[in-house]
Amino acid sequence: MKINGSKILITGGSLGIGKATAKILVEGGAGVIITGRDNDRLASAAEETGAIPFKADVAKSEDIERTYQFVREKWGRLDVLVNNAGIGSQSKHLTDVTEVDFMNVYQVNVIGAAMMAKYAAQMFKEQRYGNIINIASTAARKGYEKGSVYASSKFALRGMTECWQAELRRYNVRVILINPSEVTTAFGNPDRIERNVRSNRLRSEEIAHTVKASLEMDDRGFIPELTVFATNPWEE
Ligand SMILES: NC(=O)c1ccc[n+]([C@@H]2O[C@H](COP(=O)([O-])OP(=O)(O)OC[C@H]3O[C@@H](n4cnc5c(N)ncnc54)[C@H](OP(=O)(O)O)[C@@H]3O)[C@@H](O)[C@H]2O)c1
Repeated sequence: MKINGSKILITGGSLGIGKATAKILVEGGAGVIITGRDNDRLASAAEETGAIPFKADVAKSEDIERTYQFVREKWGRLDVLVNNAGIGSQSKHLTDVTEVDFMNVYQVNVIGAAMMAKYAAQMFKEQRYGNIINIASTAARKGYEKGSVYASSKFALRGMTECWQAELRRYNVRVILINPSEVTTAFGNPDRIERNVRSNRLRSEEIAHTVKASLEMDDRGFIPELTVFATNPWEE
């Protein structure tokens, strides 16, 4: 697809990967709406990227409905949903996890992403065109010690991606899963301060570049899943 002139909705666009993705897509000529839960963070991200801010929490169904009402009023159409908003949880052994740990993370990473995609898919079916990018993780491909909650939420997103690919290709909708390995963002930081960039670690920019490059392929083709590794993250 052509980025220039396209209309793109990014959840969790006020920091990290979502913000870097908004920036590169606005620079490419797209109209971009970013969502997030905090007005101040959204306002500064909007200023930095040129994207349109919209306060909405993907864990709240009324916020999801308001988001699509805004998209329809603003643009009347949508080319891309980037399902990026996601949260982690404290790493815990299976013997210590609680139902609440699962509910909190699943409400955002699984149910929130699914409901965002549901409304996008309704528009895309009407348009007979669209793209959904799901930002999962390398944790969507391999479990690890104390990862029950987060890894299983991303496995779910990966599974749903395959379902949506099977359902939506016939409507000219491409559904693409992107799995970043560790990226130096504020992810998992309760104070929401970004971690220091290190020369051998992935930055949000690498993932933003991956989103843009995967969208830029001609609409007749798509990459179902991409994983992004840092080349040599072990060097101190
Ligand atoms: N960083 C990594 O190492 C890494 C690796 C693999 C995959 N990922 C995935 O990449 C995605 C982005 O992560 P990131 O590292 O950029 O995280 P981040 O720096 O914590 O940013 C997350 C963004 O999502 C927003 N957000 C969080 N919960 C939300 C909700 N319920 N509704 C709407 N917006 C919400 C945050 O803003 P507010 O807090 O203001 O709402 C922020 O804009 C996530 O899905 C994450 O699982 C990250």
